[in-house]
Amino acid sequence: MACTCVVGLQWGDEAKGKVVDILTDTHDLVVRYNGGPNAGHTVVAGNKTFKLSILPTGVIKPKVKSVIGNGVVIFPARLREEIAQLQKNGIETGDNLVISDRAHVIFPYHLEQEKITESNEGTGIGTTGRGIGPCYQDKVGRVHAIRTGELVRPIHLEERLRQILDFKNRLLRGFNPNAVQFDARELAKEYAEHGEFLKPHLADTTRLLHEALAAGKNILFEGAQGSLLDVDHGSYPFVTSSNSTTAGIASGTGIPPRHINRVIGILKAYTTRVGKGPFPTELNDGPEGLGERIRKVGREYGTVTGRPRRCGWFDAVAAAHSAQINGVDEITIMLLDVLSGLGKLKIATAYELDGERIKHFPTDAGELQRCQPVYETVEGWSEPIEDARKLADLPLGARKYADRIGEILQLPVKLISVGPDRVQTIFTVQG
Ligand code: GDP
Ligand code: IMO
Ligand code: MG
Repeated sequence: MACTCVVGLQWGDEAKGKVVDILTDTHDLVVRYNGGPNAGHTVVAGNKTFKLSILPTGVIKPKVKSVIGNGVVIFPARLREEIAQLQKNGIETGDNLVISDRAHVIFPYHLEQEKITESNEGTGIGTTGRGIGPCYQDKVGRVHAIRTGELVRPIHLEERLRQILDFKNRLLRGFNPNAVQFDARELAKEYAEHGEFLKPHLADTTRLLHEALAAGKNILFEGAQGSLLDVDHGSYPFVTSSNSTTAGIASGTGIPPRHINRVIGILKAYTTRVGKGPFPTELNDGPEGLGERIRKVGREYGTVTGRPRRCGWFDAVAAAHSAQINGVDEITIMLLDVLSGLGKLKIATAYELDGERIKHFPTDAGELQRCQPVYETVEGWSEPIEDARKLADLPLGARKYADRIGEILQLPVKLISVGPDRVQTIFTVQG
């Protein structure tokens, strides 16, 4: 029995989707445990490209059970769009998709609430605008939250929405006299219809997962976002509202930590970040600079919002922090092809903070903002590497670069990715 976790070690978009897709072949269940439609995971297989946001990447292979755990927040309209999109690509979603009846539901008032805080320059953190923060706030606040299991009880749902909207409508109007107002009856009707759609998929997924464990099934946990966006361990407050580290598995699925026996940390060969917040190794070197070149070659634009991703050098200080809090056993180095032909490459191995050299990731966002990276320079390589399929196919510079990352982090590099397609993957000798 294997309980594997794929977790991002940077600020998201490390290409977790590609790795999950590869590992799906050797697992029976793929489980999302955190986040919601803020995630965007792209999988390329031959001439087909799949973009998944709320559904686990496992849905591409219907023989696998795809589970949305209780820690995920669900926007039903988006989920249904994704299912319809898959259907257009010839993939049916039926019994293979199971959704926790404990997962919380995102409503349109969450999106409106987020607009208020995000439109304020002082408080906005550059979110995806999908209602993630307000929905998790209501979950923890307990008073104004609705879980998926409640959507199938229409009378109860309308009553709950009446209570909640009495508060939410006044809140929204308090900030803006022209704010949208929601009608409990209408919203209840819309969401009861979503409930009808979701009903066949809803279950106590905690029980289901424990039964799968008892039956010796292999389970793959698919992290969304990246560890530096974790609400407790990331670059707070410029983070998301869930535990995107492996810490989120236990709370977000009901599977205790001791069952997780393989943690795969996903790293890009460089670093990207979407939204606001400190980013010590960011390359802010203008339209002709390396930052822009990486963005163009790596097609670094957000899957969910289309925003250009901020790009920079590999940050080993941040990656080491992430590896530690996740209990990472092995790493993968993704998008290595993007660095071909860039000349000499840099890896941050320490920070200078207020005249002092540090090797830890600071708690305070202001301190992180003041950190100047201390770089080690590594020889690059000039040849394209998209067609490399084994280590020996890589130019020496590319091998050395990947080896150096593993060496600094003291972790084995198990997989190197040289292109978006499944086949553009090198499994290193360690297996
Ligand atoms: P995720 O959120 O961690 O699943 O990552 P995203 O899917 O948001 O972003 C990764 C992007 O890089 C996707 O568009 C992938 O198709 C693409 N990709 C994955 N691996 C590679 C690679 O090795 N090289 C290149 N050039 N692109 C890759
Ligand atoms: P995947 O799973 C990259 C970022 C947003 C913003 C911050 C908070 O594709 O790696 P939120 O909407 O979650 O309240 O926004 O988190 N963010 C992501 N960045 N990849 C993601 O997911 C992200 N999910 C959220 O850009 O800075
Ligand atoms: Mg993504």
